[in-house]
Amino acid sequence: MHKVIYDTDPGVDDAMALVFQALHPDIALLGVTSVFGNSTIETTTRNARYLVERFAPGVPVAQGAAAPLRRSAPAPIDWIHGRDGLGNTGLLPTGQSGLDTRPAHRFIVDTVRAHPGEVTLLAVGPLTNLALALDEDPEIARLVKQVVVMGGAFGTGGVNGNVSPAAEANMAGDPDAADIVFGAAWPVAIVGLDVTENTVMTTDYLAKLRDEAGEAGQFVWDVSRDYEAFHHSSVGLGGIFVHDSSAVAYLLAPQLYTTRSGPVRVLTDGIAAGHTLQKPDGFAAPAPEWDGRPSCEVCVRVDSAQMLALYARTLVGKA
Ligand code: BDR
Ligand code: CA
Repeated sequence: MHKVIYDTDPGVDDAMALVFQALHPDIALLGVTSVFGNSTIETTTRNARYLVERFAPGVPVAQGAAAPLRRSAPAPIDWIHGRDGLGNTGLLPTGQSGLDTRPAHRFIVDTVRAHPGEVTLLAVGPLTNLALALDEDPEIARLVKQVVVMGGAFGTGGVNGNVSPAAEANMAGDPDAADIVFGAAWPVAIVGLDVTENTVMTTDYLAKLRDEAGEAGQFVWDVSRDYEAFHHSSVGLGGIFVHDSSAVAYLLAPQLYTTRSGPVRVLTDGIAAGHTLQKPDGFAAPAPEWDGRPSCEVCVRVDSAQMLALYARTLVGKA
């Protein structure tokens, strides 16, 4: 059983990843923490509450950072995730799930301390909440089981970014936080954009979920209509890239991913701010900016057919 805190900026693909976790029998959601990113913190928190109310009732939601550590919040990317951050579906919480009174980083610290060595932080937005938790209580690095991140891009297939030629959205959202999180003494695995773009849910795949996976399948279909239109108009795809759910799949089935080990730095300034760079273990030349930092597991390949099968199995209740 994986005890998970889901740190998220819902977001269409964040929502699809929440449904995946909520329905998988091997995941126990201890909490959902919101962060700015795809939309404002008010919108991502409202969406987190909506998703929890509907798919994971009783799971606490704690509101997180409204802005990065040392810059202003990015504008919502509503042409991708919708004006409501949920694909213009207009879904709203009915107000039954109260908000935890603690800020997200305090919720993370308390929950990790309550379950030493057991908690996975599954982070699919800017990493501000995790950096703030480390700042408040650096010891948690040794108490967390693992951190699984969707973010960054490591150049396989020539993919280095989506919000700029050099940066992926979650890293660009708070490069300082990301560099802190990748440098802490906890086990980190990263599924970057260059790998998540190798898994595509086609229109036919999503339609099958709609028809066979009950309420969850219908929700995934509804929430992804405008997101799919965005993928079609921007990159000519007949479907959607599978970003945040890839981090969930890594947690559940790491054997589907090939990884490369080595410390990771995130550029924090200049035209390539948010760019992620790994020094692979065994790289011969000294690199003082990397050396001495812990190795992270960076995904470089995925068995996308099996990843898609795992998601579908979970939604139809056969995982
Ligand atoms: C990442 O950025 C966000 O827009 C998505 O939710 C995902 O976490 C992809 O670059
Ligand atoms: Ca996200």
